[in-house]
Amino acid sequence: MAFFYLLPMILLAIFVASFISAIIRTIQTEYANCSIPPGVSNPGKLRLIVAVLIVTSTLGRIFEKMELCSSLAFKRRVFSGWRPGPARGVRREDARLGRVPARLYRPRAAVRAPRPAVLLFHGGGWICCSLDSHERICQYIAKESGSLVVSVGYRLAPEHKYPAAYEDCLNATQHFLQHLEHYGVDPARVIVCGDSAGGNLAAAVSQTLAGRSDFPKLRAQILIYPGLQALDFNLPSYQQNRGVPLLFRERAAFCALQYIQGNTSNLEEVLEGSHIPPDLRLKYRKWVSPDNIPEKFKVRGYKPHKPCEFKPEVYETVKRFCEPNLCPLLAEDTIIQQLPESFILTCEYDVLRDDGLLYKKRLEDNGVRVTWYHLEDGFHGIVNLFEYCGLSFPSGKRGLDKAVAFIKSL
Ligand SMILES: *[C@@H]1O[C@H](CO)[C@@H](O)[C@H](O)[C@H]1NC(C)=O
Ligand SMILES: *[C@@H]1O[C@H](CO)[C@@H](O)[C@H](O)[C@H]1NC(C)=O
Repeated sequence: MAFFYLLPMILLAIFVASFISAIIRTIQTEYANCSIPPGVSNPGKLRLIVAVLIVTSTLGRIFEKMELCSSLAFKRRVFSGWRPGPARGVRREDARLGRVPARLYRPRAAVRAPRPAVLLFHGGGWICCSLDSHERICQYIAKESGSLVVSVGYRLAPEHKYPAAYEDCLNATQHFLQHLEHYGVDPARVIVCGDSAGGNLAAAVSQTLAGRSDFPKLRAQILIYPGLQALDFNLPSYQQNRGVPLLFRERAAFCALQYIQGNTSNLEEVLEGSHIPPDLRLKYRKWVSPDNIPEKFKVRGYKPHKPCEFKPEVYETVKRFCEPNLCPLLAEDTIIQQLPESFILTCEYDVLRDDGLLYKKRLEDNGVRVTWYHLEDGFHGIVNLFEYCGLSFPSGKRGLDKAVAFIKSL
């Protein structure tokens, strides 16, 4: 009789054991692709975060196979974290700017009105994150800088491809600029801000509004480890940090492709550089080139990369990479010259480090004032971990505080 109970128990045990060992095997292989440099801030904590990310992506894949939800939906859910309660000292309110959803964070403290405003475009590779995921950062900036923070809930890829996200951010910004009085905001102190893909959107919106006389001029842009180009995935920082979390080199190209075409066919070609015609590559060399990266950023290792043979059919599908609204590093000097004062944060252990360094150079070469802050022990995403489930890094908070100090200095 006992046999009838035993058999299902044994089968269940085998099932659970193989499930767990499959997860462990996946974690081991993924760990093998990942490198945590010794100089990085708090490597133990970073390793823990990587394990959580790997488990998340493994579970996501399992759920997708079981047809419970797509792995992307699962990832989005996890990355949003839990929504924090209202911070003391900040009033939070959902709103719409034109047709775009937004969330406003108003400091309660009786500061002199009108106050500055920060329009914040969240990061997440154009495919993840949300108003919820960036709540803590928004609350912190509002409270510490005494500004109205406006977080913009733009549409995500791959469901909504380029230029959806850019257009939403632009539309929201324009709508806001037309109604400053309603928000009690100082028209001379409106700032755009974004991290990662959000930094890309902030840079693109700044460029579009530069020199427009029909809107109040932006006072500043804050770009936190922004992604600003998709021409060259072999710049020194991409080589040095190819396997450093939280953004692998391949993942950077993956996100750019999701944004531009809604899928990741051509990933290999884009990584190798066969997606850009030689004449265009030559044309943009003055702006996107390892030659413009200071030598001290090459000492950790850099091998000049010869792009593989050009593939016209790939270029045909990704040629919008040459639009500055997608790759702000490619804007003409006449636009760059009119950009507002800028704050750029870069991290040493980040594939996007050189995007930030190249943009800094372009701004400075064109007479735009730049406040640059480089986190020597920082990695991509470090600022976003601020107060996230106890996973903060002091270095990330320092970066955030520098951005706040910049806002207060305006
Ligand atoms: C925003 O988009 C909506 C719908 O496309 C449009 O009607 C509106 O004029 C836009 N607002 C601004 C400020 O561009
Ligand atoms: C990927 O997207 C491009 C452009 O949207 C499309 O032409 C191509 O067929 C898609 N490829 C796959 C495998 O879905």
